[in-house]
Amino acid sequence: MLILGIESSCDETGAAIVKDGRYLLSNVVASQIEIHDRYGGVVPEVASRQQLATIIPVIETAMEQAQCNWEHIDAVAATYGPGLAGSLLVGLTAGKAIALAHELPFLGVNHLEAHIYANWLRNSTYARQTREDDADWEYQEGDPTFPLLCLVISGAHSELVLVRGHGHYELLGRTRDDAAGEAFDKVGRILGLGYPGGPAIQQAAQRVEEELTQQGKAVSLARGAYRLPRAWLRGTHDFSFSGLKTAVLHLAEGASEQQAGTASGEKARGQVSQYTRMGAQAATQKGGANVALLASSFQEAVVDVLAVKTRLAAQEYHVKHVLLAGGVAANSSLRTRLEQELRPLRIRLSYPPVAYCTDNAAMIGSAAFFHLLRGEQHGLDLDVAPGLSLPFVKA
Ligand code: KG4
Ligand code: ZN
Repeated sequence: MLILGIESSCDETGAAIVKDGRYLLSNVVASQIEIHDRYGGVVPEVASRQQLATIIPVIETAMEQAQCNWEHIDAVAATYGPGLAGSLLVGLTAGKAIALAHELPFLGVNHLEAHIYANWLRNSTYARQTREDDADWEYQEGDPTFPLLCLVISGAHSELVLVRGHGHYELLGRTRDDAAGEAFDKVGRILGLGYPGGPAIQQAAQRVEEELTQQGKAVSLARGAYRLPRAWLRGTHDFSFSGLKTAVLHLAEGASEQQAGTASGEKARGQVSQYTRMGAQAATQKGGANVALLASSFQEAVVDVLAVKTRLAAQEYHVKHVLLAGGVAANSSLRTRLEQELRPLRIRLSYPPVAYCTDNAAMIGSAAFFHLLRGEQHGLDLDVAPGLSLPFVKA
């Protein structure tokens, strides 16, 4: 089954042709990052106008790259929520119009569910030899195995979800304030590292950590340079990142560590002596705080909480497979650390390639496939749902 997937929930315009929910024939993403970087974040009106300008060329390019015409396509799927209403409207309307014009089944896709299904996409290119007759479409070799635990971490969501089967989601915990990606973006802005904050913070941290490694020093000197607070919220699977963000803000505004409520990491900083050998960015100061060391310490605090709490939930629910999903799943420190937490317990960890962690349409085509398999589709009266959440069932 060939599905045209369309994604337009925020500042990325995507179209992809996906076969059988797993194999990519094409995946095109037009990003607006450069435009929004000027404003330090996404401006909704600008985002939807840009979506409108790019949606048709992006879809045409995806069709061309897959060498498809409309006769090849079996269904059309588009994100209908959550996201920015104006942005969602563009992709959803385009999808419905194409379905109407070409008399194709249409399905609206939940963006968060699609992030999870990015884990079903194959790293390899399209396998033409899939045997049609005796195939089990629900499970194919290489698919994630149920029951599994998924940490969904994007710009607006941080949720620990127990997935017992296709479409069966139980909410174990969620953020009580900022999402993990939101914290990365806000701290990126506080530290003057630009938008989006996640990749910028990762890069700044990586640079200073690599420098230390080259000097024969431990990376923990950077990661522990500022002892930032962690909200463990013990006894729950919930998260909280706003206290951490505020501590960084106070430090970057020149507060002392005592005033910022962070224990001192002065000793570690003292050992990172050769700032002059670091790049210009690594030596940048904000309010007396070293930006690179603060970026590294902040990332470590987020990773620490996400990795430990995910491992604890995996143990409690006896799952053998953990998935990462959403933009923050691109974070290399998180991937490495969670691997270290889970490997001794023989729990498998999977995450999509970086390009499929952040917003893309391939994941829309994948999620849509498993709904269409169950005979589900939407009418063309489907409206955008900016506040949509995962369709949770009670435990
Ligand atoms: O899933 P996504 O592309 O969009 C939403 O659905 O929100 O996630 C975007 C978020 C942003 O907050 C961005 O800073 C974060 O993902 N992100 C990262 C990394 N790459 C993107 N956060 C940490 N490390 C990264 N490498
Ligand atoms: Zn997303």
